[in-house]
Amino acid sequence: MQVIETIAAIKEARRRLAAPVGLVPTMGYLHQGHLNLVKEARTHNAAVVVSIFVNPTQFGPQEDLSQYPRSVPCDLTQLKNERTDIVFLPPVAEMYPPGFNSWVDVEGVTEFLEGAARPSHFRGVATVVNKLFNIIQPDSAYFGQKDAQQVVVIKKMVTDLNMNLEIVTVATTREPDGLAMSSRNVYLSPDERRAAPVLFRSLQRARQLYLEGNRDGASMLREMTALLGHEPLATVDYISIANAVTLEEMTAVAAPALVSLAVRFGKTRLIDNIILE
Ligand code: PAF
Repeated sequence: MQVIETIAAIKEARRRLAAPVGLVPTMGYLHQGHLNLVKEARTHNAAVVVSIFVNPTQFGPQEDLSQYPRSVPCDLTQLKNERTDIVFLPPVAEMYPPGFNSWVDVEGVTEFLEGAARPSHFRGVATVVNKLFNIIQPDSAYFGQKDAQQVVVIKKMVTDLNMNLEIVTVATTREPDGLAMSSRNVYLSPDERRAAPVLFRSLQRARQLYLEGNRDGASMLREMTALLGHEPLATVDYISIANAVTLEEMTAVAAPALVSLAVRFGKTRLIDNIILE
């Protein structure tokens, strides 16, 4: 496994890789969810590149950039075990040199949900992902369903800008009690960690109502809100049932629907979602 820090060196190494090449973009502090993306890439590609880059432009001024958890030595050991060919680990100045001034703005689908709660977040994501695609030129790139809106935004960018690669979405990896794996779960206190599976329980409640034939978005949201209300440590940021492609809220629920939510436990903000097919 090669660990490469500069754009010039990875472009050079890329030329020697067998095709097809799969890319897994990450911000490091890897957990089983990331490793499942790498496994999926490994199954379908001759070569696998993983990027580790805590992208400053997707963090808001009030967000946790300096405290974002990092563990490069441990990440590298795990990636080696997954038979990763190249890890791209650029310093910030390599990706954003002085004078950097070009941005990718995906409009429409970024207005809702996380985009509404975190202005400029998706501009940072789309810009860095576009740069990674240009630098590494993968045949396919792998993203987790856990960040559902991120997948929608990246697919829209790839379509609108005629990019030549396939975006593969991989199912959310969950702890045995249903909590979606996330690098941010380390911030939870023991009590908050015990409370956090309420996110998945409320999503499952929505699925159950849907399977019973309920198509009334407002009543489904009410039931989810009531269930979350029983957990005193949880403060709801938003709960949404939206068209899974346009992300517009739906009053009459029709498949495919994205049921998603963001909930705070103390200082930690968790997101999760399911798709009603
Ligand atoms: O999902 C993430 O970890 C990040 O948003 C990504 C896609 C690596 C871009 O920085």
